[in-house]
Amino acid sequence: MTAQLNPRGDVAVLVPAAGAGVRLGPGRPKALRLLAGEPLLVHAVRRLAAAASVHTIVVAAPPAEVEAVRALLAPVAPVTVLPGGAERQASVAAALAAVPAGPEIVLVHDAARALTPPELVESVAAAVRAGHDAVIPVLPVVDTVKEVGAGEVVLGTVDRTALRVVQTPQGFRRAVLTAAHSAAAGDPLTDDAGLVEKQGVPVVCVPGSEYALKVTRPFDLALAEHLLAAGA
Ligand code: CTP
Ligand code: MG
Repeated sequence: MTAQLNPRGDVAVLVPAAGAGVRLGPGRPKALRLLAGEPLLVHAVRRLAAAASVHTIVVAAPPAEVEAVRALLAPVAPVTVLPGGAERQASVAAALAAVPAGPEIVLVHDAARALTPPELVESVAAAVRAGHDAVIPVLPVVDTVKEVGAGEVVLGTVDRTALRVVQTPQGFRRAVLTAAHSAAAGDPLTDDAGLVEKQGVPVVCVPGSEYALKVTRPFDLALAEHLLAAGA
């Protein structure tokens, strides 16, 4: 059965999924690695498609896997799949260029955050809709953080009350993200809000979700399996 996205939705979600997953260890590209028998990307897209505001989903897949990803996602939701780039930013830029006229809110969401709840998608979109140009979900830093220098010698203790861990989906007014990406060619950053910050646009934080953890290392995959088994 093909899920129907909301034609009256105002949100396009770009899903960078073209990474290799080097830190996860040898195997298929990370988005295609299995979590409880299904690829991470399938979990991620299913949750995005369950968010009522989502009008369009564009996936940037590993270039050699575009057809495989199309086949994989066809029964999950109507999505556009195109080849990603060598850097995450290039994958996002390629997906952004494929968004049709209509949605004025654009979210960027890592395929690796496979268990992100639809409620987080909606809360980020709602904050953009309410007038913020750029919105990121964050969590507080719970551990003590040290700055370390040569020889692993501690230089000092960082004040963690001002620090946040940043997740996705990150949300933007469409024109703001488009301008930031065209201004940023050749200056890769690990998140899209970073590009927008460079344009001097205020970026606003909303509460993130523990379930939006990024599967990066084997431990994260094991954790995600447990969360899923427990009903996530
Ligand atoms: N990504 C992408 N295109 C790239 C690199 C990364 O679309 N050229 C995507 C990944 O597929 C992932 C998200 O960006 O969904 C976050 O990147 P990361 O967690 O670093 O994934 P990988 O780059 O695949 O992992 P690693 O850095 O360990 O190789
Ligand atoms: Mg990477």
